[in-house]
Amino acid sequence: MTDRYAVIGNPIEHSKSPLIHSEFARQTGQDMEYGRLLGNLEDFPAEVRRFFGSGGCGMNVTVPFKEEAWRISSERSPEAESAGAVNTLSLGRGGELRGDNTDGVGLLRDLTENNGFELAGKRVLLLGAGGAARGVLRPLLEGRPAELVVANRTAARAAALAAASKAYGPLRGSGLDALAGGHFDLIINATSAGLAGAAPSLPDDCLAPHGWTYDMLYGEGQTPFCHWGAAHGADRTLDGLGMLVEQAAESFLLWRGVRPDTRPVICLLRRGRNVRREGDQT
Ligand code: ATR
Repeated sequence: MTDRYAVIGNPIEHSKSPLIHSEFARQTGQDMEYGRLLGNLEDFPAEVRRFFGSGGCGMNVTVPFKEEAWRISSERSPEAESAGAVNTLSLGRGGELRGDNTDGVGLLRDLTENNGFELAGKRVLLLGAGGAARGVLRPLLEGRPAELVVANRTAARAAALAAASKAYGPLRGSGLDALAGGHFDLIINATSAGLAGAAPSLPDDCLAPHGWTYDMLYGEGQTPFCHWGAAHGADRTLDGLGMLVEQAAESFLLWRGVRPDTRPVICLLRRGRNVRREGDQT
């Protein structure tokens, strides 16, 4: 029988996960199908139980259910524990619900493996203090940057997140204004400002010469933060499409025990995006 997987979220219709996982399955010869589930805001735990109860093998969880998925997981990986959120669910040997979080590993793999960024010894700035920032803090610190600063529009939230995460390595919290003269080698945007078409407002000189910017969001065209990076002389301005594919590959590895090749899938998604963008202009 074909193994069943799904991504659950609300909204869900634009999720690229079914396309990504069906490409992985084709490439690795795995007999599986992967669908979309529109999660009910009132009834998430029951939906998860129904899916696994009817023979489902694994789920990806997206906005706004990642924290709730963490709460209902009876076993959690260290990555899920530190993120306070779960994006990958599976059943353990005894039928218990197991929660993982592959977002942080996905970011790290995209930065280092796909794009060749050397994190060790670098000065890194992480923007935002919500769930997206929290999910990548620990994996970033494991890359041994010289310094990691978490900065947020509401400075107190950044200070609280830094204090709560200090067991994972040296980091400090900051407001955005205090970043003037920071000269960071890498600035990662984990805020949701881009969803409203904006970039966080940053001092002009917080990016080092030859620094890179990474936006955890992605879109049809250049994101507002990639635009900010380009306008401030970044050597590279990366968006979150590679992270999306890499976090999916980590989930696939957890479920199937096989690591798919992510590069052709990243290329496929970028090509699809360009075609749509060109089509929009004509
Ligand atoms: P998520 O789970 O996606 O991280 P969240 O918990 O709502 O979502 O957090 C959103 C983050 O984006 C916060 O850090 C927020 O800053 P505040 O804590 O000051 O609200 C940040 N954010 C949203 N819009 C922003 C904007 N226009 N400029 C700067 N930061 C913004």
